[in-house]
Amino acid sequence: MTIKPLLAAFSIFWAGVSIAQSPIAIVIHGGAGTLLPEHITAEQRAEYHKALSTALKRGFDLLSAGKTSEDAIIAAITSMEDSPLFNAGHGAVLTHQGTAELDASIMLGADRNAGAVAGVSTIKNPILAAREVMHHSPHVMLAGHGADDFAEQRGLTIVDNAYFITPRRQQQLERLKHEEQRTLDDKAGPVGAVALDQFGNIAAGTSTGGMSNKRFGRIGDAPIIGAGTYADNRTCGISATGHGEYFIRAGVAYNICQLSRLTGISLQQAADEVVKHELVDMGGEGGIIGLDPQGNIVISFNSTGMYRGWIDSSGQLSTAIFKEN
Ligand code: GLY
Repeated sequence: MTIKPLLAAFSIFWAGVSIAQSPIAIVIHGGAGTLLPEHITAEQRAEYHKALSTALKRGFDLLSAGKTSEDAIIAAITSMEDSPLFNAGHGAVLTHQGTAELDASIMLGADRNAGAVAGVSTIKNPILAAREVMHHSPHVMLAGHGADDFAEQRGLTIVDNAYFITPRRQQQLERLKHEEQRTLDDKAGPVGAVALDQFGNIAAGTSTGGMSNKRFGRIGDAPIIGAGTYADNRTCGISATGHGEYFIRAGVAYNICQLSRLTGISLQQAADEVVKHELVDMGGEGGIIGLDPQGNIVISFNSTGMYRGWIDSSGQLSTAIFKEN
């Protein structure tokens, strides 16, 4: 036997070994907020559970079919971007001018490649644009009209800004213009997903309309690699949701991953340290979802609720909104 068939045989054997070794799992969020059971009707609650389940299944079906964690999180996030329930894509919160300006990012744990777009206004699914930046540009982040143009050149679906605007968000904006107090729902609430595939690769992504009534090109943490999104096969995948200014200042996603990697504490312990202590001390409300390389689901939030769901390595699907369920 020459060396080539030997190498091929070894690759097949190795692929078989790695397929057998890595569990698959996915975890998603649809935003964190001042959510109380009395603020949401039973019908609304059911709608959120259904939308979360749909997004989870889209991602997990791909993982089960042997696709990558990147494909899985893209399927889950686009599902939530297309739903009017969440602050991302169609149904995103609005700027002071009543328009939508969207942010998104993606990162792969295998090589820590990443892509992001910020302040885009015509890309139907901003997470797809973040992926295009990652794979088809020499950059990590593109912003504003340049990012919109790049996405169009890459052949992504372009829409009028009116596509993103819903009556619910218009009413929210009008209320905010007359009120001093913002709730966390007005400030933030992106969607995000983290997945682990059979090859042992983690991917994480986040997408949002940002903060309601925002002005002057404000950008939050969602498109900032290390703040709203981070992935590193050695330790973690993290996607954050919350008051972006604090998440940027605390470098939340990277902070959690490094804390776990350098100290040896579990990813859950690291997440609780950053979310429930560091962020609370700073005044930053919100939470994170994550996965470690063994497929353990990590969830931590300091707000009263966080729309979330996961399918663990046994295939069990769960969704929850408040602290208890
Ligand atoms: N966490 C999203 C934002 O603050 O824009």
